[in-house]
Amino acid sequence: MTASGQLSTTDGSTWWRSAAIYQVYIRSFADGNGDGVGDLAGVRSRLDHLADLGIDAIWFTPWYPSPMDDGGYDVADFRDIEPLFGTLAEAEGLIAQAHERGIRVIIDIVPNHCSDEHPWFRAALEAGPGSVERQRFWFRPGRGPDGAEPPNNWKSRFGGSAWTRVPDGEWYLHLYSSRQPDFNWDNADIRAEFEDVLRFWFDRGVDGFRIDVADGLVKDPALPDVADGDETPFSDQEGLHEIYRSWRKIADSYTGERVLVGEMWLPDMSRAARYLRRDELHSAFNFDFLVCPWDVSRLRDVVTRTLRAHDDVGAPAAWVLSNHDVTRHVTRYGRAGDTGFSFADRLHGTPVSLELGTRRARAAALLTLSLPGGVYVYQGEELGLWEVEDIPSALRQDPVWARTAGADPGRDGCRVPLPWSGSAPPFGFGTGTPWLPQPDSWAAFTASAEAADPASMLSLYRRGLQLRPSLGSASLAWLDAGPEVLAFTREPGFVFALNFSAEAVSLPPHSEVLLASGPLEDGLLPTDTAVWLRR
Ligand code: GLC
Repeated sequence: MTASGQLSTTDGSTWWRSAAIYQVYIRSFADGNGDGVGDLAGVRSRLDHLADLGIDAIWFTPWYPSPMDDGGYDVADFRDIEPLFGTLAEAEGLIAQAHERGIRVIIDIVPNHCSDEHPWFRAALEAGPGSVERQRFWFRPGRGPDGAEPPNNWKSRFGGSAWTRVPDGEWYLHLYSSRQPDFNWDNADIRAEFEDVLRFWFDRGVDGFRIDVADGLVKDPALPDVADGDETPFSDQEGLHEIYRSWRKIADSYTGERVLVGEMWLPDMSRAARYLRRDELHSAFNFDFLVCPWDVSRLRDVVTRTLRAHDDVGAPAAWVLSNHDVTRHVTRYGRAGDTGFSFADRLHGTPVSLELGTRRARAAALLTLSLPGGVYVYQGEELGLWEVEDIPSALRQDPVWARTAGADPGRDGCRVPLPWSGSAPPFGFGTGTPWLPQPDSWAAFTASAEAADPASMLSLYRRGLQLRPSLGSASLAWLDAGPEVLAFTREPGFVFALNFSAEAVSLPPHSEVLLASGPLEDGLLPTDTAVWLRR
């Protein structure tokens, strides 16, 4: 971005290498029409918040027409806007309005599956076994006498079997809910369709795509049974690279450096980095960092491994603490012991110290904002919001909750509508009753309350995002500041330190304190506190 806030054409080749990207989960951001559900009018009315925050781009979670079985990740039409959210014309207006403020726009694309209300899936149901319509999905006869057993033992990532039987006796594959049938990427129609969808939105000015389940599109066509936990036949299949090479060519054929960002939960970082070779995706979320517990050596190790794996392919790292799928990190860091996350183990009900979690979240914010590469900010993390764990069962909407019969509380707790202003719900979210209830205690965490408080999380994020572009080189060097201090330098002259020990420690040599995540104690760096220094 230039000083005047306009998108620059001269920095076009590198903006995504260090961008700060704000994730908007539309349903929960701001409600412009009073129906209790966030929408594009709400986003337009709150663009000032994002401009003041100092982010470079917005990533919108799916905004397409959808029955909302999975919050919009069940898409019924890839070329239009969900009526609850607005219209296509409004989306075009929003893209233009963001661009006027120097903010780029990334949208979600969901190529692994669609909604069971997508016309292609409806046609497949209607056309019956053996039809070309069914070949766009994974329809198979069942096993056992009468075919009453699913075709294989794959499990849905949301719980239960990955197969559902239709009235004519065939089964279809869904790695997520039964309302999200998986596409068959060996079918030429699917490839052509998504290339066209990319062009449709690039033509409307979007600056990039976040690719949902980017590692999962290609399946081993033998559909073999798997041992528990083995995802080999449906994750990280070699055939994916060819798809992303063709997508990269499309992105590169547009002006202004359009980007492709992969969502990939792969166990091996060097495998993930293969998708970031120069003719494939631009970047991918670093989930190893997200799930890393609050532990100095493990964090140092994950940062080192990340930078090395990315350097090998010439790609920037992308740091992320939270998103719409994981327990908010104030809560994760506020729990004793492991702060990891998995779909199966959300640790709800484990005691949480919000005070501890907040202190660590502030330090973690300064860490992610100062690491070389790009950074994602999930809506509400800039306000220091925590996971809402006491949502009444009857109001829970995540299919994970129902598919696990409540064993997994699901992801609603990180999707509660944002508090903007005022002292009671709906806290300026809109005029209607928010689709999930907000805690009364968020009165002190509204954007307007925090904007007025220099010690708030919001003020820390604003200052951090403002200073961030000046932090120096695209690499770091670790600094020895003691075994329980994470410290590094970025040239020229930037120094970072985070104290994990129980005692306050002295600051590394410096000429100036640029920013600290909490007050220093007599010039010392307290426990769970981070500082940015000028050498
Ligand atoms: C991704 C999304 C998640 C969604 C799933 C299925 O993991 O981030 O929200 O439920 O894909 O589309």
